[in-house]
Amino acid sequence: MLQFVHITDLHADASGMHFGIDAFERLELALSHAAGHAPHANFAVLTGDVAERGDEASYRKVRRMLERLPYPAFVLPGNHDDPSVLSRVFEETPSVDLANASGARRVRELRAPEFNALFLDTHAGGKGEGAMKTGDLDAVREALRSEKHLFLFMHHPPFASGISAMDALGLSNPDALLRIFEEAHRKPAAIFCGHLHRTIAGVWAGVPVFALRSVVQEVDPFSRDPNRIVYCAEAPEYALVDASIETGGTLTILSQTIRFTESGTSISDLPD
Ligand SMILES: [Fe+2]
Repeated sequence: MLQFVHITDLHADASGMHFGIDAFERLELALSHAAGHAPHANFAVLTGDVAERGDEASYRKVRRMLERLPYPAFVLPGNHDDPSVLSRVFEETPSVDLANASGARRVRELRAPEFNALFLDTHAGGKGEGAMKTGDLDAVREALRSEKHLFLFMHHPPFASGISAMDALGLSNPDALLRIFEEAHRKPAAIFCGHLHRTIAGVWAGVPVFALRSVVQEVDPFSRDPNRIVYCAEAPEYALVDASIETGGTLTILSQTIRFTESGTSISDLPD
């Protein structure tokens, strides 16, 4: 059984508010909620857009906060990030075993007893679109040779969402990933991403895909203007993901989204 906390699109800015929201305050709320309700998770992952302007001060502050979690945390770059600054501040490490992982790191590959995970870098500059890079494609090819289930974490989703402005900033070469799957005659167990600022679950090319709301600001799902990202006021979420293998080898992956800014009412608290 593996459990992890999925958080995305923090857009932290040490120089001030973003979207009129203090992203660090919001992150603190999410982390303390997750640590309080799921203290035995195996790790947390922040799938990109860690900092709004890719600056070192924001990364340092986020790293200090993530390091207070009772489990390791991993980050990867989104289009707003500066991958080289992120990698320096979070001490990029090629590969770690989950059993030995600690702190908050930019790790490329995570190895666990029954699962492997790759944390990809789809940052491609430009206006914010993404791309699969040769090194990451090679890593996916290699990881699919293992019998273990493979999870891919990446900022840009490989699928089109229908939200025009986000799709205009989408992954430019998802076909490259498809070719790797075809060559390997295997697929990842699931792909977890961010970028859309929407919670969307589905299947892409036979692979379960999970995109998640931003921890700070959400995108209007009905916006069809390709030139303008329209935001909307909705509660932020993180996701608690459970992956387990039952006797006989059946893999179950459940991503449960959690609204951490609203206090829930237990049914037992309701009047009769
Ligand atoms: Fe974002």
